[in-house]
Amino acid sequence: MNEYKLPSAKEARFRRKTYKAPIIYDSVLLTESQKQLGVNLKYHVLTYGCQANVRDGEVISGILENMSYTFAEKLSDADIIILNTCAIRENAEKRVLGVIGSLKAYKRLKPDMIIGLCGCIPQQEEMVKMIIEKYPIVELIFGTHNITSLPKLLENVINTKKRNVEVLSVLGCIYEDLPSVRQFEHKAFVNIMDGCDKFCTYCIVPYTRGQQRSRKLEDILKEVNELKSKGYKEITLLGQNVNAYGKDLDQGYTFGDLLEKVSDTGIKRVRFTTSHPWEFDDKMIDIIAERENLMPFIHLPLQSGNDEILKLMGRRYTSKQYKELHDKIKSKIKNVSISTDIIVGFPNETEEQFLDTMKMVEHCQYDNAYSFVFSARAETPAARMKDTVSITEKKERLQRLNKRLGYYSKLNNQKWVGQIVEVLVDGVSKKNPAFMSGYTPQQKLVNFSYDNAEIGDIIYVEITQGMKNSLNGVQVHLGKENHE
Ligand code: 5AD
Ligand code: SF4
Repeated sequence: MNEYKLPSAKEARFRRKTYKAPIIYDSVLLTESQKQLGVNLKYHVLTYGCQANVRDGEVISGILENMSYTFAEKLSDADIIILNTCAIRENAEKRVLGVIGSLKAYKRLKPDMIIGLCGCIPQQEEMVKMIIEKYPIVELIFGTHNITSLPKLLENVINTKKRNVEVLSVLGCIYEDLPSVRQFEHKAFVNIMDGCDKFCTYCIVPYTRGQQRSRKLEDILKEVNELKSKGYKEITLLGQNVNAYGKDLDQGYTFGDLLEKVSDTGIKRVRFTTSHPWEFDDKMIDIIAERENLMPFIHLPLQSGNDEILKLMGRRYTSKQYKELHDKIKSKIKNVSISTDIIVGFPNETEEQFLDTMKMVEHCQYDNAYSFVFSARAETPAARMKDTVSITEKKERLQRLNKRLGYYSKLNNQKWVGQIVEVLVDGVSKKNPAFMSGYTPQQKLVNFSYDNAEIGDIIYVEITQGMKNSLNGVQVHLGKENHE
């Protein structure tokens, strides 16, 4: 183990109040040999987890393409496969370990194939040690803080035929000018910050992604303007906690100010994720209500509707404060849709406490929700809490909760029947190849029949049916479509 650079759980917890993250421009400068390393070779990146990981996956692909690797559609054609991983819950980790197991067969057929692992899983001290010990086929390991080390590490693996591991537990930097291969040509993710300092007691993210670091406003605007000039119609501003944007800078800007500036660029659609009910200020609500290109869709994670559980979770708001914020957003932003995240079965959650969550669901009637059974994450305070609730009970609560969440999703979707909505076209529908699909401003997935629609168009669709997870519709023409 000693030859490797491994993360430290103790250091990952560390925060410095006055920390100013260094900004690194021209983050990935390749040597001549690194630029040629992938000639005639292919890569594949398997990304799991949140949008931050998706964005990292785009950057990893960008770095590999700058090193002359080309994309392999099929895993079996790849000379390097990188697993870009998520550690948010145990099942996310198990899935990745299962995939590593299944890659053994590829490696047997193609012994020179390099299997790499990055993202949140190797940021955990015990996990990475276990992987090093039990999964010798993984020869390249790096973390969330040093994606830019990929060229150096990969070159080492190829030249020395030895495993290379470098995972850092640091407060973190801000990397600019990163190469990337974006997933789409009409919509894009734009990181505005990384890391999280909230330390909700169940959550691994603050340990795996480091201290909160906001990008400078001008660097974000530069990226948005570049995307706009390339024809992008929609951007999603990404951060673990977007409403805390800028608090670590001396710019004097808040997230509301950033939204205003991004709206001013004139890009057609602006979204953001994810927000915390804490620090969600009026400026944010007012500017979204005011500006047409700021989409009326808010993800507002509840986690629990019970005050004692919220306190144990370290969420910094009460159920009353959450409800007031929710109601304010609903009343101020016309036609807004609201989604949420809920955890059931937090250690020792009683039936009564769970019912408070159910009550909140009845009040908020969410458009969409992600619900999870609590999963103990090593090193987090909640993992050390003694728990008396059985997994059967937790799963039964999740089922009851999902039934009500599904009921309201469908009810809200059905309210759109008969209305004409704007849809940004994503491509052929996964449900029906004769249809196309896309999203409304409220982030509702629509599958629709069409006569004149292409990927990236913003068109009109009349909604004919509302189901739990999507809408059906028919393209209509109002004479002001945007096919540019
Ligand atoms: N167990 C279950 N769900 C979790 N989440 C985060 N950590 C855990 C955990 N340990 C959920 C939260 C968060 C979402 C991204 O994942 O609801 O908002
Ligand atoms: Fe995790 Fe809480 Fe930070 Fe969200 S705000 S990433 S739940 S610690």
